[in-house]
Amino acid sequence: MDKKIVFSGIQPSGEPTIGNYIGAIRNWVEIQNNEDYDSIYCIVDMHAITVPQVPKDLRKHTLEVLSLLLATGLDPEKTTLFIQSHVSAHAELNWVLNSLTYMGQLNRMTQYKDKSKRFEDSSINSGLFTYPVLMAADILLYQTDYVPVGEDQRQHLELSRDIAERFNNRYSETFKVPEALIKKEGARIMSLQDPESKMSKSDSNEDSYILLLDNGDAIRRKIKRAVTDSEGVVAYNDQQKGLKNLIDIYSAFTNEGLDTIVARYNGKGYGVFKEDLSEVVAEGLRPIQERYKDLINNKDYLEKVYKEGAEKAEYRAMKTLRKVYKKIGFIPR
Ligand code: AMP
Ligand code: TRP
Repeated sequence: MDKKIVFSGIQPSGEPTIGNYIGAIRNWVEIQNNEDYDSIYCIVDMHAITVPQVPKDLRKHTLEVLSLLLATGLDPEKTTLFIQSHVSAHAELNWVLNSLTYMGQLNRMTQYKDKSKRFEDSSINSGLFTYPVLMAADILLYQTDYVPVGEDQRQHLELSRDIAERFNNRYSETFKVPEALIKKEGARIMSLQDPESKMSKSDSNEDSYILLLDNGDAIRRKIKRAVTDSEGVVAYNDQQKGLKNLIDIYSAFTNEGLDTIVARYNGKGYGVFKEDLSEVVAEGLRPIQERYKDLINNKDYLEKVYKEGAEKAEYRAMKTLRKVYKKIGFIPR
């Protein structure tokens, strides 16, 4: 039986948060270790530049994200791990798909609407607008079956499917139409400061997120400051959104059911719960952080990983790109 192809990406726009870990990365590791899947994971530096980046920080974050992905358990022997800008087919297919995507569709993308609110109209670049088209190119190049992502990417996935179907209808069957793989649990970890918005590494308030590399003190401080409510009862419901989010995080790190956790803190205050949660998160991140320390200092190994990853990815991507160029009427060189 053919293995199902899985593709996903993460932006090196900062250090990953526990939201990235719970919503995406830990699922990537699980999929990599499942024999039924052939997985490809990409650090999407070309997506990252759709908002302003300092070049030396982008370089630094790209290697940090690579090290963290390895530290959480991705294994280059079992998966294809590479950097987007190393495989030029992504930019090339992006152009073709741009010519197939309607402005109206892109105008409806909620992530674009949210992100563009943060900038003056005159400084919103067209890359931010066509961001989901590049994402479709990433996915479609590898004939992907499944795309494991957090809830925030659902709409982008729908667009990728739409673009694939449009191309197939216009030029004959070329792309596999991908499906989103979004887990129920942990698909949307919220900001610790505002439980109405998602936890994001680009948030200007440092207390709103926990980074995978935060030390115990930082974790304890941020969880202590996390917004809760005045009910004073540890319970899981939509009226206590802050607490609900903290329980989700607890559950993600301990693999315990929500009921079990709520029962344990029955009659205890938020202070005790937050203290324990800090411990759970710090303990959960410790082994990742230890492996990370070795990896980030081993530049030769990191280079070997991303070079070999790019070679494997490029071989597969070019097969699709050549097909696409032929179908749309470009003359082969
Ligand atoms: P990004 O950091 O935007 O490149 O996101 C990388 C992956 O992490 C994507 O699959 C996102 O859906 C996922 N992700 C990002 N933030 C969160 C969050 N707060 N909760 C759950 N998943 C998230
Ligand atoms: N847009 C995704 C995010 O911000 C990152 C991404 C880029 C991606 N290309 C992708 C995710 C392809 C899945 C598949 O989270």
